[in-house]
Amino acid sequence: MGKLDGKNVIITGAAGGMGRVACQVFCAEGAHVPGGDLDATAGKELEGELAGKKFTFTQVDLASSDSIRAFIGTASRHFPYVDVLYNTAGITLGKPILETEEDEWDRIERVNSRSLFLLTKGIAPMMSGRRGSIINVSSIGGVVAFDNMAAYGASKAAAAHFSKCAAVELAPGIRVNAICPGVADTAMPRNFVKELANKDEIFDAWNREHLVGRLGRPEEVVSLLFQPGYFSSSQSRSSAETPASGFHHTVGR
Ligand SMILES: NC(=O)c1ccc[n+]([C@@H]2O[C@H](COP(=O)([O-])OP(=O)(O)OC[C@H]3O[C@@H](n4cnc5c(N)ncnc54)[C@H](O)[C@@H]3O)[C@@H](O)[C@H]2O)c1
Repeated sequence: MGKLDGKNVIITGAAGGMGRVACQVFCAEGAHVPGGDLDATAGKELEGELAGKKFTFTQVDLASSDSIRAFIGTASRHFPYVDVLYNTAGITLGKPILETEEDEWDRIERVNSRSLFLLTKGIAPMMSGRRGSIINVSSIGGVVAFDNMAAYGASKAAAAHFSKCAAVELAPGIRVNAICPGVADTAMPRNFVKELANKDEIFDAWNREHLVGRLGRPEEVVSLLFQPGYFSSSQSRSSAETPASGFHHTVGR
């Protein structure tokens, strides 16, 4: 028997580094997982990989209100109630403030923070008897200020603070938490540095800046969700802003 048999778990960013692992782990625990992501090719691949499990993929653009509404509509047709909403979709931008365009700022804010508001508004009413858990992936970049990361950092700080406000409003039935990982080894940091001449130096510095001497791993972030009495469990509490354990970034401490 899985820990999450009979549970319905919506996961955004399902096709990404952390989201994919989350879909695999939640499915392995017996949950029904409607996953959404902008990347339909990778999402469909994941659907193939998880054939035989209770996973379905829907393309969604979290920058678009209409697309989010359609995603919620699809989920509500298939699942009469939702137990867990795990928001892990996100985008990044490495640019000085003075070079950041308005539309770049707007897109990152829409995907990383406004979508959390729209998804919470649409899905909290689907939490059975108003009981459930919402877990938002913020970032250490929303806690600590880094060079050239103002748009990303502001969107992630908004994600963490929105989580606290939602936790206060939706308590006691719906728990809301934010996770703030350090750098985790996925496509996101690799794409971020790939054009830079000093990318190896940057990776070395990231390794050193984490207490475990290396980048985090997606499965370590996802494992937080299964700590006894924590996020996915009805024993969990609202609202934590949790640095993903084992690789809390040391810059600025
Ligand atoms: N990897 C890190 O170092 C790190 C550190 C701290 C926080 N985070 C956060 O963790 C989360 C997961 O990141 P990851 O490392 O798995 O990155 P990733 O790039 O592998 O995955 C992100 C996923 O979000 C999807 N996405 C992007 N824009 C979207 C949109 N408009 N609509 C729907 N889906 C969209 C992408 O297609 C991708 O599958 C993100 O919110 C990220 O900001 C990552």
